[in-house]
Amino acid sequence: MSEKIYDVSAEWARRAWVDDAKYREMYARSVSDPNGFWGEQAKRIGWIKPFHKVENTSFAPGNISIKWFEDGVLNVAWNCIDRHLEKRGDQTAIIWEGDDPSQSKHITYRQLHDEVCKMANILRTRNVGKGDRVTIYLPMIPEAAYAMLACARIGAIHSVVFAGFSPDSLAQRITDCQSKIIITADEGLRGGKKVPLKANVDAAIAKAGDVDWVVVVKHTGAAVDMNPSRDFWHHEAAEMVTTECPCEPMHAEDPLFILYTSGSTGQPKGVLHTTGGYLVFASMTHQYVFDYHDGDIYWCTADVGWVTGHSYIVYGPLANGATTLMFEGVPNYPDNSRFWNVIDKHKVNIFYTAPTAIRALMQGGDAPVKKTSRKSLRLLGSVGEPINPEAWEWYYRVVGEERCPIVDTWWQTETGGILITPLPGATRLKPGSATRPFFGVVPEIVDADGKVLEGECSGNLCIAKSWPGQMRTVYGDHARFEQTYFSTYKGKYFTGDGCRRDADGFYWITGRVDDVINVSGHRMGTAEVESSLVAHALVSEAAVVGYPHDIKGQGIYAYVTLMTGTEPSEALRKELVAWVRKDIGPIASPDLIQFAPGLPKTRSGKIMRRILRKIAEDEPSSLGDTSTLADPAVVDDLVAHRQNKK
Ligand code: PRX
Repeated sequence: MSEKIYDVSAEWARRAWVDDAKYREMYARSVSDPNGFWGEQAKRIGWIKPFHKVENTSFAPGNISIKWFEDGVLNVAWNCIDRHLEKRGDQTAIIWEGDDPSQSKHITYRQLHDEVCKMANILRTRNVGKGDRVTIYLPMIPEAAYAMLACARIGAIHSVVFAGFSPDSLAQRITDCQSKIIITADEGLRGGKKVPLKANVDAAIAKAGDVDWVVVVKHTGAAVDMNPSRDFWHHEAAEMVTTECPCEPMHAEDPLFILYTSGSTGQPKGVLHTTGGYLVFASMTHQYVFDYHDGDIYWCTADVGWVTGHSYIVYGPLANGATTLMFEGVPNYPDNSRFWNVIDKHKVNIFYTAPTAIRALMQGGDAPVKKTSRKSLRLLGSVGEPINPEAWEWYYRVVGEERCPIVDTWWQTETGGILITPLPGATRLKPGSATRPFFGVVPEIVDADGKVLEGECSGNLCIAKSWPGQMRTVYGDHARFEQTYFSTYKGKYFTGDGCRRDADGFYWITGRVDDVINVSGHRMGTAEVESSLVAHALVSEAAVVGYPHDIKGQGIYAYVTLMTGTEPSEALRKELVAWVRKDIGPIASPDLIQFAPGLPKTRSGKIMRRILRKIAEDEPSSLGDTSTLADPAVVDDLVAHRQNKK
């Protein structure tokens, strides 16, 4: 572990929203008087009807219920757009930077209003209303934000599906929330490569069925098949509607969106977030964590298909009246200077990205960074996976030139917003540590038996009390919500992460302790990859684990047992990788496949994943006790044939 500590500079302590003393004072109040604290904070957004009740939450077994500001009425799109019009109608709301560096545009708050209203009216004319689910399968173009905000405006619930997911994954998500309308584009564009989005939607509907409408945004201009009774062009429909659309009054606990995420078992779950608490939390964290001030140019490189894109490209920044940059491309196209060129081009002040991107760029050396200015940068952020101290130091030293604090923000799809993070004017930085809890957040580290550990310790990370941005349920399956998050340690929200607390009370996230792996900051359930592999006719059994990967953080290591009589081969290995890629999407492609005649199982037939993990991690000397295995000899074979390169 890194021993280095970076103190808060005097200038930062003075200029930032909070210094250390203020943090301590606000934090203490937020946990001793959550009703008072959050009641005041919620005034940062506009309410159609004020709330009288602040927190009404229970983590009690059998009665998991989370409500914040429940009798208040508001509209998220109004908060993100309309209320800014008077003061900043002509200010840029969204800077869009295309995959092709010659393409960019500025969208003002007034233009955003008009585009969102048109999209909302397009939905309304197709009978989409409050509570209806709308699937959004779009690349990183402004229409993705328009579509999300249009749903929020009319009270429809959006489900954004990452445009890198396969038709099957999309179909699964359409079916789960029974959405009758899909918003997509002809094609996506990433790193110069085209992604056939409309064709993917057609394939998904062939499987999911029962979709009434497909709205198609013209992006690359590619020819696509249009089914005249179902599909229509966005730009044509937009000509038939007005730029005025009233905001639907929403109760604070009405759903805002569903976002599917991977768990340790079975199918992805639809994480449900609601209106009032989510917006208060997204906007407050955006302001304090990034020390956002009026006029700042803010860039989060995530995709709107993930929660980071929801909370920190769209809802948090726009609720704060910020200028948010949306980037369609990738860090290494056309070359490794792209991020830094975009920063110079748009004078970005706050930059938020993922460790996997930092590690990949770090491998390309300092030169592509140093040939750019980056003078506008004031603050750097990291999210999605643990950042190793080497990558942290490089980000700090080379990218930020030792002038920009780094906020290493820990959170999850389920948490709606950032829970553990430094505040740049308040918190000393330790490379690799997410440091301290945000206001209202009460982390607890528990041992395997659920005993709460005190002081310096390591264990499993739980959160003891609710916060406004917390997910409310798994869409359509409240029992699964309770089972997944509240049954392991009764009375607490269990994050699925391991964590260490040091002598200063700083938190160090050590990674998932369940069967979820984190590949390039993307969350992947090992069970999903396994079920894809066993669906192949030649595969009899599969077990998937993560292993350390220099760039991706974790890579996907698959042990595959073939059907009797099937010979392993390089061709089959490639075929299986392509199979999973097509079935789930490129992010799920196994990095290494080991053909295994047998898997280590207990006498009752349970696969001992601990052993498979150790072999994949190349730590055969720490396999632990293998005597309880039905056939201990399989372990020797697995160790002997461990894969270490593609
Ligand atoms: O393991 C943690 C890791 O990402 C998981 C959440 O993934 P997802 O729901 O896709 O959301 C990612 C963006 C918020 C967590 O359980 N994780 C996220 N941020 C960090 C992190 N691990 C360590 N440090 C972080 N800053």
